Amino acid sequence: MSHTSETTPARTLIVGDQTPQHMRLRHALEAAGHEVVEARDEPAAARSLLAARPVVVLTDLRLPTGDGFGVLRAVKGLDPDLAVIVMTGGGIEDAVTAMQEGALDCLATPVDPAHVLLLVERAVARRRTIEEHLVLKQEGAVRQGMPRIVGRDPALIQVLTNVERAAATDATVLLEGKSGTGKELFARTLHAFSRRAAGPFVAINCAAIPENLLESELFGHEKGAFTGAVARKLGKFEVAHGGTLFLDEIGDLPLMLQPKILRAVETLSFERIGGTKLLQVDVRLVVATNRDLRARVASGEFREDLFFRLSVFPIQIPPLRERSADVPLLARFFIERFCSDLEKSTLTLSAAAEDRLTSYSWPGNVRELQNCIERAVILSDESEILPQHLSLGSDQVPAPTVDPWDAIDLSGSLADASRRVLAEVERRKILEALRKAGSNTGRAADALRISHRALMVKMQEYGIQLGARVRPARRVG
Ligand SMILES: Nc1ncnc2c1ncn2[C@@H]1O[C@H](COP(=O)(O)OP(=O)(O)OP(=O)(O)O)[C@@H](O)[C@H]1O
Ligand SMILES: [Mg+2]
Repeated sequence: MSHTSETTPARTLIVGDQTPQHMRLRHALEAAGHEVVEARDEPAAARSLLAARPVVVLTDLRLPTGDGFGVLRAVKGLDPDLAVIVMTGGGIEDAVTAMQEGALDCLATPVDPAHVLLLVERAVARRRTIEEHLVLKQEGAVRQGMPRIVGRDPALIQVLTNVERAAATDATVLLEGKSGTGKELFARTLHAFSRRAAGPFVAINCAAIPENLLESELFGHEKGAFTGAVARKLGKFEVAHGGTLFLDEIGDLPLMLQPKILRAVETLSFERIGGTKLLQVDVRLVVATNRDLRARVASGEFREDLFFRLSVFPIQIPPLRERSADVPLLARFFIERFCSDLEKSTLTLSAAAEDRLTSYSWPGNVRELQNCIERAVILSDESEILPQHLSLGSDQVPAPTVDPWDAIDLSGSLADASRRVLAEVERRKILEALRKAGSNTGRAADALRISHRALMVKMQEYGIQLGARVRPARRVG
């Protein structure tokens, strides 16, 4: 996690038809400096959750497509810590169900914007506390020699929160993530956060070791167990005693070895090859895969019983393009590191290069970004990194974004829909003019080329108040 002083944008997602009540809520939140994104129904909300990474979700129970329970489940599936406030005109049963499914609160409509604001601010404060706690914990680990984890995208915070939770237990952890997402880094962090931190961290890559050697690597052998076994050898399970054993690329574990691993995982006991003594160890297991283990179970390449045993505590590490807020942070972190390694004075990242980095899809994730920056630092002989130093392939698939029109309510007659959209354009335009004019209504009216009186009327109509920080929503969905 980065140690920058910038704070995470406190983004609220409001889900539901754009009613006057939603307008009022949004105004209240924006006036207090919160960024608001909107989604009209459940599918749009699911997209916004990934694209906008809100810190709080406010949802109507009844939606044009899907419902608030669906939104609630989508949120909880993504991040159990994400606060969801449900708004309903319905009965107590719905409220009870929502609370049981993990809603922070369930409010009867019409809701009081001041009350919602209070709940949102509490949720944001709670999120900040979690982040600060993780920063401190990480600083401690870094002082002990752990590599730093850079990033503050809510998706990354979520992973770290899960890593910390898992670290407090001895449960087997399954890290799932594509190549270069940081699986090994998180495995090490988990160890560093755990009560075993002073013990060994032993890693073995199941895909990199030939099948016939893997068993002896894992469990060791006695002298003379097979031709070439000239001396007793300790396996990784033994070496990791008192610490953490990291089995990387577990999806490549040969089928033949899987029963033995299952038994070792279940009983924490095993025999060396050629040995007769049952050895007992105290080891916490962390396994990682960049393959879809369920698919390998389905195709018969991975035993189901082992899969269940390993996936007690699964943690998904999202690809870099799903935490694009972290790309510039990581880029600057790597620039600093490579400049210092190469004894160059620190290069800056040009705005154009930064744009190129954030719009790239990063199929190789953080590892690819790291390599790309290393190359750029070597290539750049100026004081700046420019797009041509990045030598990124032609893969210019833009990061997936939501279509802003998905969030716009076009229901009803043409006149109704046009009026709503126009009103929104006016409101945003006015907010922007006020912000640019430093809240001076006279100058804002001039810039908008309307009379001061007309501006005051419209501000009243849209519930725009001065004094509070004037800030337009930056995104529409
Ligand atoms: N959030 C991060 N902050 C800083 N460095 C990171 C971060 N994530 C990954 N890295 C760095 O990126 C590189 C790749 O990470 P790592 O080896 O942990 O990924 P992996 O998922 O195990 O990849 P692979 O599947 O290729 O083995 C490492 O050098 C790691 O230190
Ligand atoms: Mg790895």
